[in-house]
Amino acid sequence: MRVAVVAGARPNFMKVAPLLRACAARGVEALLVHTGQHYDSTMSGSFFDVLGLPDADINFGVGSGTHAAQTAGVMVAFENWLGTVDVDAVLVVGDVNSTMACTIVAAKLGIPVAHVEAGLRAFDRTMPEEVNRVVTDALATWLFATSQDAVANLFAEGIEPARVHLVGNVMADSLFHSIERARLRRPWEVFDVPERFGLITLHRPALVDDIERLSTVLETLRGLGTDVPFVFPIHPRTRANVVRANLDVSAFHLIEPLDYLDFLAMQERASVVVTDSGGVQEETSLLGTWCVTVRENTERPITVTAGTNTLVGFDMPRLQAAVGSALSKGDALPAVIPMWDGKAAERIVDILLAGAPTPEWIPPALAITEGNAVDAMFA
Ligand code: UD1
Repeated sequence: MRVAVVAGARPNFMKVAPLLRACAARGVEALLVHTGQHYDSTMSGSFFDVLGLPDADINFGVGSGTHAAQTAGVMVAFENWLGTVDVDAVLVVGDVNSTMACTIVAAKLGIPVAHVEAGLRAFDRTMPEEVNRVVTDALATWLFATSQDAVANLFAEGIEPARVHLVGNVMADSLFHSIERARLRRPWEVFDVPERFGLITLHRPALVDDIERLSTVLETLRGLGTDVPFVFPIHPRTRANVVRANLDVSAFHLIEPLDYLDFLAMQERASVVVTDSGGVQEETSLLGTWCVTVRENTERPITVTAGTNTLVGFDMPRLQAAVGSALSKGDALPAVIPMWDGKAAERIVDILLAGAPTPEWIPPALAITEGNAVDAMFA
C-alpha cells in the first residue's frame, strides 16, 4: 500500500509524525506532502527537525493568502502532483485549509481519503476550521475520531457508522514519544523565569484580529502578571496585530514561537496555560497542567470534562477567576482519556490495511445503532 500524508501548518506536523512511523513499521509506503501553508522556520522547519520528520517528498510552497487563495493554491498543486504519482489513499489531519483542500481534490479524483481527527465540532461556522472540518468529514472515506463525542457528532450528521473509527489521539502518540526528550531541554532556564510561571498562546482570528478584544485580554493578563510572570511565544498573526495597534506587551516575556519540544516542556512546567489553541487544550490535559481557554466554545469538550480545561469566553472576570483558581491549586492531574495512549497511529494504519469500508466489508455487528456502535467496534 502507498499513501500520501498531507501536512501544511504547524498543528499538523506533530500529528503526521506518528502516522509516518506507524506506516514504516507496517510496510506501508508513505509520501509526505507539505503544502507550505506555514513556511517560517519557527512555524515549520523547526518542527521537522525536532519531530525527526523526513524531508517532504514535495513542498507546494503555497504560503499565506486569503482563504480562497490559499485553499485554491493547495488544490491546484495537489491535483497536479497526484497526476504524477499512484497512491492508494490520502491521509489528512486536523482542520487547516490544507486539510480541506487536499480532501476535495482526492475525493474528486476518486482516491479515498482518511481524516485523522474527524468529528470535532465547535458548532460555530464563523470559525474557518469548522468549515474545513465539516467539508473534510463529508468527503473522507475513513473518519478517525479521537473521542466518543466526536463519533456522536458524525452520527448526528448522518455519516455511516462503517466509516467511523474511534482510535484515540495521535497528539498523545507524539507527546508520549517526545516528552522525555522535551524535559531534558529545560527551556525555562533559557527564559530565566522563576519556578512558577504562566504560558500564553493566542492566534485565532476571532480574538487576535479583533484589536479591541485582543487589547482587553492582554490588559487582563498584564494585571495577572503581578502574581506570576507570563511567557508569551507569539504567533506571527498575533505579533503583526500587536505591532499594528501598538499594544503594550512589555509586561510579558515575549519570545518567538517555540519548537515542539520546548513548547511541550514549557506547558508541563507552567502553572497555567492561557490559550485559544485546540491542540494546547489536549496537550495540557495529557500533561496535567491547568488550561484556561479564551474562546466561547471548544471542539474538544473532552478536555473540559476531563477537568483540566476551563472555557472563559471573552469574559474578563471569568478569565481572572480561572487563572487565579489555577494558580491557587497547584498542578492538575494528567487526564486519563480512553485510547489517548500512544497507539492511535498504529490503530489507524491497521484499519487502512484492512481496506476501505464497503457494505460487504462491514461486519454485521458494526452496522448497528448509535448507542452501541462505538463500543462494538473495539469490543
Ligand atoms: C492556521 C490554521 C489554524 C491553526 C494555525 C496554527 C487555517 C484556516 N488556520 O492559522 O487552524 O491553528 O494555522 O498556527 O488553516 N505567517 C507567517 N509565517 C508562517 C505562516 C504564517 O508569518 O509560516 C503569518 C502570515 O502573515 C499569515 C498569518 O501568519 O498571513 C496567518 O497565517 P495562516 O496560515 O493564514 O493562518 P494561521 O493564523 O497561522
